[in-house]
Amino acid sequence: MADFKKSVVYQIYPKSFYDSNHDGLGDLPGVREKLDYIKELGVDYIWVTPFFVSPQRDNGYDVEDYYHIDPRYGTMEDFERLVHEADKRGIRVMLDMVFNHTSSRHEWFRKALAGDEKYKKYYFFRKGKAQGKAPTNWESKFGGSAWEYVPEMDEYYLHLFDVSQPDLNWDNEEVREELRKVIRFWMEKGVKGFRFDVVNLISKRGFEDDEEGDGRGFYTDGPNIHKYLKELNAGSFGKDAEIVTVGEMSSTSLENCFRYAGEDSGELSMVFSFHHLKVDFMGNEKWVLVPADFMKLKKILFDWQEKMEEHNAWNAVFWCNHDQPRVVSRFGSEGKYWKESAKMLATVIHGMRGTPYIYQGEEIGMTNAGFHDIAQYRDVESLNHFRILQEKGLTEADAYRILQVHSRDNGRTPMQWNTDQNGGFTDGVPWMEVNGNYKDINAAQQLRDDDSIFHYYRKLICLRKEYDVIAYGSFQALDGKNPSVLAYRREYEGRKLVVVCNFYGKEVDWECPTGLSGYRCLLGNYQDGEREMEDKIRLRPYEAMILYKEG
Ligand code: GLC
Repeated sequence: MADFKKSVVYQIYPKSFYDSNHDGLGDLPGVREKLDYIKELGVDYIWVTPFFVSPQRDNGYDVEDYYHIDPRYGTMEDFERLVHEADKRGIRVMLDMVFNHTSSRHEWFRKALAGDEKYKKYYFFRKGKAQGKAPTNWESKFGGSAWEYVPEMDEYYLHLFDVSQPDLNWDNEEVREELRKVIRFWMEKGVKGFRFDVVNLISKRGFEDDEEGDGRGFYTDGPNIHKYLKELNAGSFGKDAEIVTVGEMSSTSLENCFRYAGEDSGELSMVFSFHHLKVDFMGNEKWVLVPADFMKLKKILFDWQEKMEEHNAWNAVFWCNHDQPRVVSRFGSEGKYWKESAKMLATVIHGMRGTPYIYQGEEIGMTNAGFHDIAQYRDVESLNHFRILQEKGLTEADAYRILQVHSRDNGRTPMQWNTDQNGGFTDGVPWMEVNGNYKDINAAQQLRDDDSIFHYYRKLICLRKEYDVIAYGSFQALDGKNPSVLAYRREYEGRKLVVVCNFYGKEVDWECPTGLSGYRCLLGNYQDGEREMEDKIRLRPYEAMILYKEG
């Protein structure tokens, strides 16, 4: 059995990772070239986001062919070499399966559009409610209606994401078997992990107007979702106990996640949930500016930690991915305490019960893009919302302010390797501008500096391997009402761990409700030798500590 509880996953967005052939786009040989860097960090898995044939409207999350590699990223041989070279270093490869939808250029969808009845049933085609009126009032997650009209057919098709991403009909058994086949194909290639994109949206509840919201209530955690996941498991990855899976769960509930990621539920190994990353939204509305609500953040993180444990289910724990702004810009500080706050945020995640995911660049404290011209943006969701916000009456300047905070492109600027041109990402023209701060923030500099954010992440990963209490311990929130400190306690076979993090740039006194006598500090983000632990401690700005006691 793969011990995913002791593992750490590193996410690679290949387009922005490393360009090996000077065309400005990162590629698979580029990932291979950087395996030693990844190995040094100490992770067990690399999750590589989609590199299948795709028109790239949504950077590969619009798959045209699940069996072939987009030539922009390399060849099948490159992929096989990557798996092999990673394996030599004890790193396994996790692939990203986008099964809620295909690209509209997928052969199935093209046949459907050509009127082939078999393939029409692979998707959701419906008549309009009335002349010029979509079948339901549901909204696309990327803005606008979730239905697209096809005049030749006088029918609409459903797309919960971009118009070029038609939703697959999982109620059709043939579709489900096609998708299981895809997984089996990649298993044959030595893939040892799968991440399933927005997988809790695959079972639709019926097509009616949503009187209360944007439609999500009709397709999130739908009626057959658990059945479909069990079937997928049994008919593909479940045949290999070494394989680790993670489901991306959009707007999900704890009750469903107990089942998705329950130890014996036969569905998935673990789940990504996103409630803790909506604490700077207004309800579900992302395209607004509201300060992050720390108390809410804490409550959500703690609830998910405690309740998932109660139900013997497993979380993926993370701050960053290719859809999120950079965490140090979001919940930490880009200024004086950049380094301390990046390390503090890492501590929060890596001390928790769950499998930590690190997104490329997070381990060196990369910050938001700061783009101020729409020509610098690439993301379809950002481009759509830049227009929609102005249609709603916001000024261009206000629309920019919102994009600078929330755009997914903040997390997608190329990896900053060194001080060479384009941060060493490419010597061609990068597909997206490199963040201007690469001379100060880059991997080469941090590899040399023992006190860097990179080495701090490396130490956190070592601790998880060394101390079973981090991987297997129970979770108990500490001092939940404290307005500036996030703290929790872990316990396993008599060993105890206290993680304490000051979330703000001001000193604060903190008293551990369960006492700290006998604890020693395993890791902290301020350099000072052995520090005597008293029950009451003064935490410096953004200070974080992992304290440990045996017996
Ligand atoms: C997921 C992916 C995101 C993509 C969307 C549609 O949320 O992480 O990047 O745009 O699904 O596939």
